[in-house]
Parts: sequence; C-alpha cells; structure tokens
Amino acid sequence: MSRIQSVELHPRHVSATWSDGRASAFHHVWLRDNCPQLRHAQTGHRVVETSSIPLDIRPSGAVAAADGGIEVTWADGHVSSFPAEWLSRHDYSNGASRRRDEPNLWDGTYAPKVARISYQQLLDDPKALVGWIRAFRRDGVAFMTDMPNTEGTVAEVGERLGRVRDTSWGRVFDVKSIANANSVAYTSLPLVLHTDEGYRDPAPTVQLQHFLVSEAEGGDATLVDGFRVADELRRTAPDKFRLLCETELSFEFVDSDIVLENHAPLIELDVSGEVREVRFSNHSCQPFLLPADRMEAFYGAYTAFGAMREDPRFRIQVPMGAGEMYMVNNRRVMHGRTGFTKGGNRHLQSCYIELDELYGRLAILERAVGA
Ligand SMILES: [Fe+2]
Repeated sequence: MSRIQSVELHPRHVSATWSDGRASAFHHVWLRDNCPQLRHAQTGHRVVETSSIPLDIRPSGAVAAADGGIEVTWADGHVSSFPAEWLSRHDYSNGASRRRDEPNLWDGTYAPKVARISYQQLLDDPKALVGWIRAFRRDGVAFMTDMPNTEGTVAEVGERLGRVRDTSWGRVFDVKSIANANSVAYTSLPLVLHTDEGYRDPAPTVQLQHFLVSEAEGGDATLVDGFRVADELRRTAPDKFRLLCETELSFEFVDSDIVLENHAPLIELDVSGEVREVRFSNHSCQPFLLPADRMEAFYGAYTAFGAMREDPRFRIQVPMGAGEMYMVNNRRVMHGRTGFTKGGNRHLQSCYIELDELYGRLAILERAVGA
C-alpha cells in the first residue's frame, strides 16, 4: 500500500506526493466536508451540513502523518486525519469515480452459460448463492432448478433474495394456460419479448418466474439482453439510438380498479452516457406524440429496435420444465415465450423483488462467506 510522503499547503488545495511517485490534490472545502472525524461513528453518515462550510475555508496546517495518511489542522482547532487507503480510494484528482458494474452483454449463443443454482443451494450453500447473484448482476438473468412444485414457492425464494414487492396484482400472480381452453385469458399464443410493467413508476426491477406445471409442448421462454440490442443499435445506427434515448413514451394500464401511467424513453442513459435501462412494453405503449417532422424517423428507430429484439441472433430460447425458474433484471432483459405446438396444462407463478435489496443481500452474504 502506497503511503503519503510529503504534503504541501496551497491557497485552495493540499497537494500530496505518494511513495509510488503519484501526485494528488485535494481541495480544502472537500477535505473539510469529508473529514472522517465529522462522520457519525456507527453509520458513517455526514453530521455536518455541507452547505454550512465556507467555500474559502482553509487549513492552518497539513502534514504527512505517521500512518501514511494526511493530518489537517483547521483554523478553529479541529484536526482531520485521513487514512492513506481512504485517500487513495477517493483520489478524484487521479480520476477516482464510482465503481460501476460492467454488464456482460450476451447474445443468442449464451443460453448454456446462464448461471444456474438449485433450490437446495439457495437454502444451504451461501458460497454458491454469492456466485449466482454475482452472475445475475453481470448478465441480468439467472436460472434456478429443482424447486418444489408448490404454490407460493416463488415468494419464498423472493424473500430469501430480497423483499417481494406487493403490487395491484398482489405479491404473487399466476399465469395459466389450459389445454383446449375456450377463454382468451388462457392463450397458447406466443408472447412477444417485453419488459414488465412499463406503466409503473418505478417499474419493478427484478422478476422471478417459477414454472409449476409445464406439460405443453413449445412455450419455451425467450430472453433477450436489451443492453446488447441497444449496444448494437448504437454502433450500427447511432441516429436511431439517439431518437430512442431522447423521445419520451407514455405507458398506461387501465381497468375498473386502477389507472397506472408512466412516461419514459425506451432507452435511458446514465450521466456517463451508458445505458442504464431498456423499457420495451409495446402492448402498454400509448400513441407516440412527438413533433410531426420526427414521427416517421421515430417509427424507423422503434421498429428497428423491435425487430432486433426478436432476431434469433440476440434471443435465447430455453425450454422450462416444472420446478424451474428464471430471474430477470427487468430494467435490462426482455422476456417472452414461443407459442405452444401441442396443448397441455401450464401454470407459472411470478413475483417481483428489487435490485437494491438483492444486491444488499449479496453484500451481506459476501461478508459472511469472506468473498
Ligand atoms: Fe411479462
């Protein structure tokens, strides 16, 4: 671990030279704002209001400390001690920024590589569970096998991975297809690829889909990495990509009990311009309303994305048997199913959990297994 060897006080910043030769600079106001001794001992939360710190605050002294960090003395007598490891990790003068989880973009060849875990491993193998959730964070999709074929299991699994989100559909909702059904509700038609609940704000971020009965022939799960499709569109048709990022769409769900509405683009970017969300929910999308001179170009972009998502080059198709489950990142991976070729009963149960709770559980599990 590199140590700080020398420190110099400048009018607006403290400069430091590290034992590996690196040079860093930390602004006075930033040092005061991030003083470790002005944080809550248990939570690490800030206890001094940032906006109360004078922008021209200046230390009366700054030295390289014996432990390799920096010790800053302020005009009011307060002393701040910054450990070397902490300064190195937050060294914004050398480009430190938030650590991002790099998504692994996948295509139609990826099916055999999607992470799998058994229900038993979920219960008693925390190391395997850590690997499985990490793979999900990277890929946006993961499978579970050998689950009990009992109703409600999906919620039990959801509670182990996070917290089940109760929506107007309830905590758990059923999808049933019955052989020779006379109701359109029990359709055996293909289901085009989509993300769920585009009309909610926020939309659920993780969907768990458990297959309890799967006797029909066909009806394979189809899954597409929306980030991969967006990436391809960005490289091959940047104008179309930009239109999908800049055009707000409206999504709506209406029945006698509830009206749900959300307005957002198909592709959402973060502040660095990386794709943070793909929302493709054609069935609930309302008429496009945009300036007349952009309408046809927008249709061109929307249909290009729509066609790419159904292209077998990007789509994985997986037969799902009873006792199996897939989990998808609903901000990234679109799901659907092929049509049934031969009738038979089918019963799925789904629930939603949230990414932050899932990754929060992962952090605790990682601590527990020392990973
Ligand atoms: Fe769905």
